[in-house]
Amino acid sequence: MLITIDNVLDLADVRRFRELLDAADWIDGRITAGSLATTVKHNQQLEIDSDLAVSLGNHLLRVLGSHPLFLSAALPEKIVPPRFNRYADGGSFGTHVDAAIMRVERANLTLRSDLSATLFLCDPDEYDGGELLIETTFGAQPVKLPAGSLVLYPSSSLHQVTPVTRGARTCAFFWVQSLVRDDGERALLFDLDQNLQQLRAQLPADDQRLLALHGVYHNLLRRWAST
Ligand code: NI
Repeated sequence: MLITIDNVLDLADVRRFRELLDAADWIDGRITAGSLATTVKHNQQLEIDSDLAVSLGNHLLRVLGSHPLFLSAALPEKIVPPRFNRYADGGSFGTHVDAAIMRVERANLTLRSDLSATLFLCDPDEYDGGELLIETTFGAQPVKLPAGSLVLYPSSSLHQVTPVTRGARTCAFFWVQSLVRDDGERALLFDLDQNLQQLRAQLPADDQRLLALHGVYHNLLRRWAST
């Protein structure tokens, strides 16, 4: 399941993030690449434990923690603190699959990557190229979103970032270990939850069908979730 979520960060947040990131020191992205990725990764990255990465990352995590659509789609159990990267001057990231197990030393956290997320911090007209190309069962889906918007996709997907041939593309990215590991089960829960929310706006809160479907959601979650 590939989901885009608009305006996760509002305009003021995007402006603040960009001012700080545009003035930041960037390092070669290959430093954090695995041995295979070293050959295909050509970008820049903010030092993972730098004060700026930690403070912007924490802000983003707070926003996500109270974002109903993100919570419904990802059912997050653990999240890798957001990282920041920048592509310019032909920078790209060739086709790869993200590592299955992530280790975050400073938080003493180990997690399985079920979902990958990219939050765009530049508008599409600021750069050429730089599309996130995600392989799905329906073919490769190009993703290039407005600043502040986010895409969530299965970490098992092959994906790449096409070369940035003009301007620069700055993004935040992170991984989620979901309470529901299987993408198909998570997609069904998301579908049910989204439709339930619409029904809740139309029906009285004590409607028996609504209560029953609410029960189905939670009983499926009980069946599929692992904590
Ligand atoms: Ni990746």
